[in-house]
Formats: sequence, C-alpha cells, structure tokens
Amino acid sequence: MSNSVKRFLITAALPYANGLKHIGHLAGAYLPADIYVRYLRAQKKEVVFVCGSDEHGTAIPIQAKKEGTTPRAIIDKYHPIIKQNFEDLGISFDIYSRTSDPIHHETAQAFFKQLNDHGDLEILESEQYFDEEANTFLADRYIKGTCPNCGFPEAYGDQCEKCGTSLSPEQLIKPFSTISGKTPIKKATKHWYLPLNKHEDWLREWILEKHKNDWKPSVVGQCKSWLDGGLQPRAVTRDLDWGVKVPVEGAEGKVLYVWFDAPIGYISATKQWALDNNKDWKPYWEDKNTKLVHFIGKDNIVFHCLIFPTMLKLHGNILPENVPANEFVNLEGEKMSTSRNWKLEMQDYIDDFIKKENGGSQMADVLRYYLCSILPESKDSEFTWKGFQDANNSELVSIFGNFVNRTFVLMHKLCGGKVPPLNARELDEIDETLISDIENAKLKVENAIEQYKFREALFEVIDLARKGNKYMQDKQPWIVAKELEVNPEKQKLIDNCLHLCLQLTANLAILIHPFLPFTAEKLCHMMKVVPKMLEWKNAGRIKLLSVGYALRAPELLFRKIEKEEIDFQLDKLHKGKIRPTTFAQESPLPASKPKVESEVKSTIQFEDFAKIDLKVGTILTAEKVEKADKLLKLSVDMGTETRTIVSGIAMHFQPQDIINKQVVVVANLAPRKMRGIESNGMILMAEDVDGKLQFVSPNVVINNGAEVR
Ligand code: 2FM
Ligand code: ZN
Repeated sequence: MSNSVKRFLITAALPYANGLKHIGHLAGAYLPADIYVRYLRAQKKEVVFVCGSDEHGTAIPIQAKKEGTTPRAIIDKYHPIIKQNFEDLGISFDIYSRTSDPIHHETAQAFFKQLNDHGDLEILESEQYFDEEANTFLADRYIKGTCPNCGFPEAYGDQCEKCGTSLSPEQLIKPFSTISGKTPIKKATKHWYLPLNKHEDWLREWILEKHKNDWKPSVVGQCKSWLDGGLQPRAVTRDLDWGVKVPVEGAEGKVLYVWFDAPIGYISATKQWALDNNKDWKPYWEDKNTKLVHFIGKDNIVFHCLIFPTMLKLHGNILPENVPANEFVNLEGEKMSTSRNWKLEMQDYIDDFIKKENGGSQMADVLRYYLCSILPESKDSEFTWKGFQDANNSELVSIFGNFVNRTFVLMHKLCGGKVPPLNARELDEIDETLISDIENAKLKVENAIEQYKFREALFEVIDLARKGNKYMQDKQPWIVAKELEVNPEKQKLIDNCLHLCLQLTANLAILIHPFLPFTAEKLCHMMKVVPKMLEWKNAGRIKLLSVGYALRAPELLFRKIEKEEIDFQLDKLHKGKIRPTTFAQESPLPASKPKVESEVKSTIQFEDFAKIDLKVGTILTAEKVEKADKLLKLSVDMGTETRTIVSGIAMHFQPQDIINKQVVVVANLAPRKMRGIESNGMILMAEDVDGKLQFVSPNVVINNGAEVR
C-alpha cells in the first residue's frame, strides 16, 4: 500500500430505498467493502466508510404507486429497514445517510450550480415523450414498448429486462405510457447535459493507461467498450416532480437526474459524518493523499468510472483510486429477481437464522463466510442452499470451529486452563513449520485483500486453521499425555503443542476479524483479551497470549446446519416463485404463510392452458345486483369492446372502490346468466392471508385487451 496515502474514503453503492435488498446486493458491494474497511481499521488507517439510501429517481414513485402510497412514505418505510439489515449482518458503515436529507439537496444543488456557472454543462432542447392524458413528460421507466432487439413487448424505455439491452425510449417499437396506457406524443423540452464527449481523452488515458493493470479486467473492459463506442452528452436533469430541484432559473418542474445526485450522496454523507464527529470533510474529497474506493455491482460501472469521475474532475475533487465492481450472484441456478420473487432477502435470512437463535450473530457470520467464499469477483457466481450448508458444516464447523474447540478443551485438560510455556529447545521441524505458516498467512491474506481478492484471502485464513488441525493430529498431545506417568518430561511437548495452538488461535482471531467480526469478538472473549489484540500488526506473531494466563472455557463458535433447515429454505424459495407469465404484486410477499395451502390440481398440458383466453381489462362501472349479497355487475373495458361481467366479490369490495381497477379477465368463458343478467367472462381473484379476495392485476398499467400469457 502506497505510503503517500494519508486517509481512505470507502463508499458502497447507495441502494434505492424502494424495497428490501437481497443477498446479491450484499455480495456485490457491501460485504467486500466491509471486509476491506475492517482490514484498514485493523491496520489503524484513517478510514471513513460511507453509504446511505438512494431516495430519488423513478424507482421510488413507481414503488409508491404499486403500494398505493406516496414516495415519501416509501423511503420512510424502507430506509430504516435496510439500515437495520446491514447492521444485523455486521456491515459497519461510519454513516448510513439519506439523499432526501437537506444536507444532500444543498450539496447536490451547489455541485450542479458550480458546474453550470463554470459553463461545464450544455443546455439542449429536444423532443421527449409526453403523456397528454396525464399532462406529464415521461421518464424512461414510465415508457414501455416492444424491444427492438428481442421483441419483448414490455421493455422499459431504458432497458429491456428480458434480453438486458440498454435502450433509449426512441428505440422502443409501439411505445406506450405506463401511466395512462396511451401512446405518448413528442414535445420539446430543455435539459442540462454533461458533455462526456469532451472528456473522452483524459478518461481514456486515466482508465485504459494509468489503471489498466490495477483495476479489474472486467471494469477496464466495460469502460473500454463505452469509450470505443464514443461517449455522448448525458442529460443530467429530468422533467419529474420527485428529486432534487434544479437550482437555476427557468428550470421549474425539473429535478436532477438521479444518477447525477446519487453519487454526490457520497459527498453529503461524508459531510454529515464530519459534522457528527467534529471532523473536517474536505480533505476526504480534495486532498490527493486520500484513497477513494467505490465498491459497486457491475451494473453501476459506467456511472462510477466515467460519469461521476467527470463530474468530480470538473468540480475540483479527487478521483477514485479503484472501483472494484463485482459481477452478480445467481440463486439455485437462476438469476436473482425481485419481480419473479427469486431471491433471498437480507430480512428473510435475518428472520430465519439470526432472530430465531440466541446469540444469532454467529449465523450472520455464516452468511458472510459463505458469501465471501463465492463472491462474484471475476464472473457471476452461484448461491445454493446446499453450498451454504456445506460451507458451514465442512469448513466453519469441521475446520475452524473444530481447531479452536480442540485447542481449548485440551488446554483445559492437559495444561490446567492456562497458556502453557514454550520450551524453545524442544521445538522440532513440525513446530517450526507451523510458526512459519502463521507468519506467511498474514502476508498472503493482506496481499489478497489489498488486491480486492477477498475469496482468496478468506481461503488463506481457513487454510491456516486447516494446518492447525493437521499439526494437532501430527502431535497428538492426548496420546503423549498417556506417557506422562513414566516420563513427566513429556509435559514439555504437550505444552509446546498447546502453546503454539493457542497462539495460532489468537492469529486466527485477527485474520478472520475482517470477514467474521462476531466470531473474532467471541474468540477475544474466550481468550480474555481486549479487542486491541485484533490490530493487524499483531498478526504473524506467536507471542500474543502470555504464558500462565488463564483462559475461559470454549464456546461453540458454529453449529451444524441440518438438512431440514435447507429443505425448508428451498421449499420456501420454490413456493414463492412468481412465474414470469403471471401478474403478481412486486411488493414483498406477506411474512406469514397463507393459512391454507391451496391444493395442487392435476397436471394439464400446455395446449389445455392455451385454450384459455386471458385478457387485461379496466372496470368502468360497478353496481350491486339486487337481492344477491355476493354479486356485483361490472362493465369492463376490454380494449375493443365493453363487457358485462357478474362477479361474486360484493362481500369484499364496495362498488365505488374498484372503478378504474385493472383486472385479468377469462375472456372466452361461455356466457352464463346470473340473476337474469348475462355474464360474459370471469375476473381472476386470489385469496390473501386474511381470506379476503384480491384482484390479480398487472403491476403497471397495461393496454386494455392485452393478452395475458
Ligand atoms: O443501482 C442502484 O441501486 C443505485 N441506487 C446505486 C447508486 S450508487 C451511487 F451513485 F449512489
Ligand atoms: Zn429485449
């Protein structure tokens, strides 16, 4: 690590406060950042670790619409949960701030203003999509249409979620507004642009030359392809009413683009941290001797390597030293997805493994361990519940926990519960090898961490514990103990073995600390040492525990994970999966299970399913049917016609509450007369946990008459 570095500023991508975050997010940015920061702190470096909620952008109002509430209510709901989730999993931010805070709005506005005043931005007028019915310009996420690449009819204006292609709204075939369902028109509007095209030369030099060897090849590669394709000016303002207001005249109704304000969130968070701790924030963003590192997932590379650095340079700030972006973690063979409910949320893991157990923080370390062992550092990786169980049972329990437990049990049994002396003259080759293994492990772990190779670093720690087990097996102090009666001198061999095993345990505590902080804390308690012992400079030494020092009884570091626990998780995952062809709410599922599991009907062939004509419609009118408590007579707009449908939902809804509701209709059901009214179709409903019927509705507005497949 270069000596000129005086302080470290470590950032982890600000997650959108629009929903719960899953373990893919954790592995992408937060866990590796936390390991790095804990390592730096153990090195006694001056380091600040900032993160917080990204509370702007269309993601927030879209979620608010889904949950039938306001954007403010959404961020106030998710910010504290996500913050607590991170805390429960040992992610040790120095500050977890919010971009809705006034300090952030002021900082982002001042940043914009400075760039604008210096003439670093360009104002351009362009034609943007406008929804005449809703009287609003449409942000990319509010426009859908057919993907020009794969033909998916529901692609967003910025990306097709089916094939992953980045898009602009103009590329969509048959665009429609997700607010009204109508075809938008083009209308002129002015916006502020960051002319990235003017910055290509230095970005090219900075990334493709200066950092070509110390940044990850995948990061350099992605930047190279952006640069080779030619950078375009990027609009940094939007016509929206949710976000940081553009602080110049003539920009009424406009806010800063979320990707302009969010990374400035790192600066405002640093300011808030400095205020809270009576420190100066400026050197962290202005002094060249600060090492700034952004931990992110690969989908954020362009923003952190090209756009934000350009903003920072224009604004007179330092640039990041590294952006160690990770790839994605898949779950049981499939891409993690919120819309398909194929994910493991941090909250779910905490509920199932941490809250249920006394001292459950050991289970936080188990998740940290497994995730670190599969970090997608150079390619996508795979989380499987079986892998999770194996990592715990075969590595944490059988190698690490077993070594520490054997050492403590034998020390109490054969050495009177105290650190035995080391008889230097009795040391043999096996002892000497162990001593050098301890010294080497420190170097290997720090080398790997400093190159952001956390998987490798963790492997080296476990490998050292493995060597400890082998050493114990070679020495067999419990066998030597049987010879003590005839040869008391043999106690020296026992003492040497357990002395070294205890020093190795102290070393393991230091080395495992960045990865498994709760375990390191427990080890300190068992060894009766203060946390100061965990300072990195102590690693590699074999004089950490003083001779004659009485130690506590061993505690269980890790428990075995049973097959039933894994089966339960797999079952939960598969049962919760939402098939891509159904329209279900994207909001978190209820925590409790439905009271009655619905019976599984016998299998049908696809041809049978294909006979059912499912279509989206909107309820236009609803009225009670005379003398029928359960029936409502509805007229439903089916796109090309209006249907009368009699539905048995009167006990669940007031007619006035369901007007304009989008529903899914079985459109080719044979007509049926009910109370003298001919019903032409059936509305799909599902029963919720309380037994109340709920509409099965599209989660965004869809054209009436659209086919449901
Ligand atoms: O992708 C995301 O979740 C964004 N909210 C990340 C923002 S990172 C930074 F710029 F704040
Ligand atoms: Zn596509």
